[in-house]
Amino acid sequence: MTRRAVALGVGHYLPERVVENAWFEDFLDTSDEWIRTRSGIERRHFAAEGETTSDLALRAAQAALDDAGLTADDIDCILVATSTPDLTFPSVGTMVQSRLGMTRGFAFDVQAVCAGFVYALCNANALIVAGQAERVLVIGAETFSRIMDWEDRSTCVLFGDGAGALILGAETGRGTKEDRGILATDLNSDGRYRDMLFVDGGVSTTGTAGKLRMQGNQLFRQAVEKLTSTAETSLEKAGILGSEVDWIVPHQANIRIIQGTARKMGVPMNRVILTVQDHGNTSAASIPLALSVGVAEERIKRGDIVLSEAIGGGLAWGSVVLRW
Ligand code: UT7
Repeated sequence: MTRRAVALGVGHYLPERVVENAWFEDFLDTSDEWIRTRSGIERRHFAAEGETTSDLALRAAQAALDDAGLTADDIDCILVATSTPDLTFPSVGTMVQSRLGMTRGFAFDVQAVCAGFVYALCNANALIVAGQAERVLVIGAETFSRIMDWEDRSTCVLFGDGAGALILGAETGRGTKEDRGILATDLNSDGRYRDMLFVDGGVSTTGTAGKLRMQGNQLFRQAVEKLTSTAETSLEKAGILGSEVDWIVPHQANIRIIQGTARKMGVPMNRVILTVQDHGNTSAASIPLALSVGVAEERIKRGDIVLSEAIGGGLAWGSVVLRW
């Protein structure tokens, strides 16, 4: 008998304001054509003035609770993956906890930038397997529009705001790859790559939030290689072949990275959930957003093998294999 962290419900929330690529043409030397062909992005959502990461996280959490048929009383732990918290502290997790009316259990944030949701899932899995929690609400929520340099065409056209949430619950499996739930995880980071993607401000340096800086083409090359490698490691740990993967639900940074990784793994694009065209890069929110869309569209079904992989600032990267 093996304790498994099994998906109980999923949900998402996107801010109302949708911004098409053409919007940037008014104030930047860029084009819809460049953005589409280089990144696959067509539009993204931006949070309204005053709308915060915890607002988005709360809406996604409520959607996931509804989907699971649970209330906040059923949750032991909230884990929020974000690099754009409302405040330096307290955590977005504790803000969501209080707004859900949850007065027991515990909540905290995980900061691994675009790999944040994969890191949070691994932590949630560990908490459940160790018997520390029975049901964990895992949220990825970001307002990257707040850390954009609107004069830097190489970054500000790529990112968007949003939130997704997944509830994991403890179930007993047989310890085989036929079990539902998380079957394997793999986490990596290498701080030598910090200059490839970072924010140029912070509490103990400038005292400001700062703006995102990225060496996009260098990161691109690292991304395909490292994502393929972590995906292969997770699949090997799970004893699953690439041909057995029903859905890749990748971090949605760039369609060319997604295509390159899928090609290297021998998984056709009709088995990849793609949301980058509608959401842009929402950092830690992109995987739970894509999961939620894939389930809502009745593509991801109970029993399917799902592989998620992500890379971001740090660099930090990793992957998760689960049976839905
Ligand atoms: O989520 C975290 C992980 N993030 C990623 O994985 C992002 C990885 N990188 C990428 O997705 C791609 O590298 C980008 C989409 C950021 C850029 O695509 P690229 O094919 O690597 O383009 P590039 O950076 O090599 O730039 C090519 C040209 C440059 O002009 P020159 O030097 O060739 O004259 C840029 O200045 O495109 C120019 N450029 C633009 N042109 C029009 C850069 N941004 C823009 C723009 N509009 N918005």
